[in-house]
Amino acid sequence: MITRAPILDRLAALADPTRSRLLLLLDGHELTVSELCAVLQLPQSTVSRHLRILSDEGWVASRGEGTSRWYSMAPAQLEPGARELWEVVRAQIAETPSAAQDARRVAGVVAQRRTRSQLFFATTAAEGWDHLRAEMIGTRADLLALLHLLDERLVVGDLGCGTGHLAAALAPCVARVVGVDESRQMLAAARERLAGAAHVELREGTLEALPIADAELDVAILFLVTQFVPDPAAAMREVRRVLRPEGKLLVVDLIEHDRTDYVLQLGHVWQGFDESQMAAWLGDAGFHGCRWHELPPDPAARGPALFACTARR
Ligand SMILES: C[S@@+](CC[C@H](N)C(=O)[O-])C[C@H]1O[C@@H](n2cnc3c(N)ncnc32)[C@H](O)[C@@H]1O
Repeated sequence: MITRAPILDRLAALADPTRSRLLLLLDGHELTVSELCAVLQLPQSTVSRHLRILSDEGWVASRGEGTSRWYSMAPAQLEPGARELWEVVRAQIAETPSAAQDARRVAGVVAQRRTRSQLFFATTAAEGWDHLRAEMIGTRADLLALLHLLDERLVVGDLGCGTGHLAAALAPCVARVVGVDESRQMLAAARERLAGAAHVELREGTLEALPIADAELDVAILFLVTQFVPDPAAAMREVRRVLRPEGKLLVVDLIEHDRTDYVLQLGHVWQGFDESQMAAWLGDAGFHGCRWHELPPDPAARGPALFACTARR
């Protein structure tokens, strides 16, 4: 029995003017069937039939995305002989007038895609995009991504870490996160949230006597914890001890407010803070370069507005 060389099947698939035109288009562009129909000016049934033959013989690969299927040439799955064969055929057909027409039309089709996306942004307007963006990616993705701009060598203290929200967000982006909290129950919940997370250490302790060595941290974060601390200036002095020289402090908390419901529910010592009070405590503790920023309110949040205050050791 004579064994038929696989290259002959590849050759047979290629030996058709429409299929070689198709392949020339797909060698360089990823296109849908309807785009190929527009370029070749052929009916869909014809294009699909030829695509099937090219796919069966390994010349073309496809992938589904949404409701469309995208086709492209598949050089990776071709043996070297087939690639050489295509080089020879391509050199011949690329010079034909129909190839020149196809090249012009495919440029138009690709440009039309861009126009379609521009039309989408022009017609949905900003509000539509904001809604779709939130639906697609939620409200935290951009901020979580921006955390990767942090220096990956940083050691960060999440002081009053609670159930570990911040530690979980920071851990993939820095060298180490040290979470400290005085509540065993909160630490147990943090342990559960952070199970399997690398580079996180959780320690039981207070802000007033941190279980952290002198100058162990590059950054200290106090997120919604200062409101529970009776003597913030003393706590800030202790936080300064565990920061390296020029290490950075971030305090995020509530701006002075009149929401007694939260004060009663959570047992706050302070009913929010104002800028001069915070700056005075940080100055007394030896911090410098204090900067106060009011955070834009999240439309979904029902509590008082927040500030973010930064300072250097
Ligand atoms: C409102 S929670 C905030 C937790 C976390 N930072 C967050 O943003 O989700 C306050 C946390 O601070 C802790 N805490 C309050 N006073 C503290 C202190 N003096 N020392 C250490 N932890 C304290 C509480 O146990 C609680 O877990």
